[in-house]
Amino acid sequence: MIYLVTGGAGFIGGNFMHYMVNKYPNDLFVCIDALTYAGNLETLEPIKDKSNFKFVHGNICDRKLVYKLFEEYQFDYVVNFAAESHVDRSIENPTIFLETNIIGTSVLMDACRKYGIKRYHQVSTDEVYGDLPLDRPDLLFKEDTPIHTSSPYSASKASADLLVLAYHRTFKLPITISRCSNNYGPYHFPEKLIPLMIKKALSNESLPVYGNGSNVRDWLHVYDHCTAIDLIVRNGKDGEVYNVGGHNEKSNLEVVKTILKTLNKSESLINYVKDRPGHDLRYAMDPTKLMTELGWKPKYTFETGIKETIKWNLEHQDWIDHIISGEYLRFMEKNYNDK
Ligand code: NAD
Ligand code: TYD
Repeated sequence: MIYLVTGGAGFIGGNFMHYMVNKYPNDLFVCIDALTYAGNLETLEPIKDKSNFKFVHGNICDRKLVYKLFEEYQFDYVVNFAAESHVDRSIENPTIFLETNIIGTSVLMDACRKYGIKRYHQVSTDEVYGDLPLDRPDLLFKEDTPIHTSSPYSASKASADLLVLAYHRTFKLPITISRCSNNYGPYHFPEKLIPLMIKKALSNESLPVYGNGSNVRDWLHVYDHCTAIDLIVRNGKDGEVYNVGGHNEKSNLEVVKTILKTLNKSESLINYVKDRPGHDLRYAMDPTKLMTELGWKPKYTFETGIKETIKWNLEHQDWIDHIISGEYLRFMEKNYNDK
């Protein structure tokens, strides 16, 4: 089998590349990545010399390049991770989210239509369902929960999902969509909650918690997301959406306190800052369909996963230091100075 994996130099795509290239030595994995601020070739260092792995530096919106790749390789599967992925950045500048997340998706699917494909898989997010109230723990997102977005990021991901479903209905393109809850684990860019808080705690800087820290996220270790996508791409049913999550709901304050405790740091480092505009209250996934129909089961609990992730961050300071570019510093200054 030949795979095209987009966004493979990012957090989840990078972990997926490691997982798949090692698990399927007889399949070929071609990774295209634009290497934006969030893409890092060092993430692919452990697999870069494997004979079943090829890296192409390019943008998924570049139709000519994408078609050329499809002509060169007869892809069986396309797995689309490439995206602008940070909610706070989408509030600062929505346009690039529309370009990559929506137009990029349409270019990839046009190529799939033109050259033929076994399966186009769209990596989506629980954020397309909007949010749930904090006082209704009985409510969970199901695959038929209506799309109801809050941020330019989630609106762009929801638009892409609708387009993917439209290509299935109108053009009979064989597609699947996975919608996963918040991920954490190795190679996580330190602008997102967990790696940012680990980084700040390690250098005894204050930890910026938005609002009062009561917002809830449903955390899944990235390894478990990768096993889910592998299953869906190979065994999922055409045209179907699968929710991915492991019932690990935590408030932001609980997450931050766990990190501080594990690192033996004081809770006095917590700094409550101005809330994110439109901040979603609670995400919670119901993964029953994926578990019962495809037999998926997560390996990690939050407690085991967070310990391992903190250890990974302690052991990979070089990786973290290298990705902190001028662009990263500019964004951090702008985002947090406004709060
Ligand atoms: P990320 O920001 O870490 O990585 C995105 C990657 O895409 C980077 O390597 C970047 O260089 C690349 N990229 C960006 N624009 C591109 C373009 N136009 N052409 C080619 N490459 C481009 O993101 P992530 O956290 O790894 O998320 C990957 C996917 O998973 C996204 O689609 C995101 O919406 C989805 N997702 C993320 C989470 C999460 O918790 N991080 C949860 C559910 C779903
Ligand atoms: P984030 O990692 O940006 O993921 P998402 O917004 O996609 O869920 O944020 C996770 C939660 O942490 C979210 O409720 C916002 C909050 N948060 C903070 O409180 N402080 C921060 O500095 C960041 C980046 C996030």
